Amino acid sequence: MENIRFRMEAFFYNIAKRLWLCFCVVTKAEQRSSFLTKIRFGKACHQRATFTVPSRYPLLFQACADYLASTKQPKVMSFGCSIGEEVFSIGQYLPHATIVGVDINRWCLRQCRKKNKNPNFTFVHRFSKDFENASSFDAIFCLAVFQRTENRTNQDNSKASGFMFDEFESEITMLDKKLRPGGLLIIDHADFSFEETGVAKKYQPLKSFEHNKIQRFRPLFDRENWKIAEEHDSYRVFVKC
Ligand SMILES: C[S@@+](CC[C@H](N)C(=O)[O-])C[C@H]1O[C@@H](n2cnc3c(N)ncnc32)[C@H](O)[C@@H]1O
Repeated sequence: MENIRFRMEAFFYNIAKRLWLCFCVVTKAEQRSSFLTKIRFGKACHQRATFTVPSRYPLLFQACADYLASTKQPKVMSFGCSIGEEVFSIGQYLPHATIVGVDINRWCLRQCRKKNKNPNFTFVHRFSKDFENASSFDAIFCLAVFQRTENRTNQDNSKASGFMFDEFESEITMLDKKLRPGGLLIIDHADFSFEETGVAKKYQPLKSFEHNKIQRFRPLFDRENWKIAEEHDSYRVFVKC
């Protein structure tokens, strides 16, 4: 009897959850955009959530500004820029920079362009010609983009599923080609370790950055997508040799 009651409750809970999701997709532009991006770009969309806040990574922004202090007009990319807060924050640390925000979610890019007042900032789609042709960056930020929430929240997350190591490595390899030698690759909140990728042998952690290594309380997966740790220490800023 208790089993039947439990099943009924689970059934109605799932219906209510789906109805709530439909309601959000219909009434909230942000949720609708995540849903449409998922339908349109499928697996090419890594992290579907678009959460961001201004000045989210002050230490990383400062480390980048210190490293590029003598570069006259640094060229910086924010890969997975969401609604642009990352670009606007980096701009405060590097006022002479040209900054390109990249995202796969068209609604996010529209919010970025609406808010932007700086002619040195541009916002381009991940699958645009502009992005394809973009190169010679002095720094590339990829923060909270190389992850999938379900890899953390699934009841059984012993193996990464939605976003896998092959996709991670292929995106890192693509970004590596857009970074000039001596440039910085900045990566945080990822499901995989940058050091596991093939291109990592060309990079060194930025030694002058005191807070480069940080403890992250989140699962880490290996090249075969198996979970290897529930928490781990990670470098975040790497110099391309
Ligand atoms: C959680 S937000 C991170 C925003 C910001 N980087 C931060 O850390 O505050 C992740 C963003 O990555 C974008 N994204 C997901 N897959 C992408 C891809 N293949 N190329 C570019 N952006 C992508 C999402 O649309 C979303 O806006």
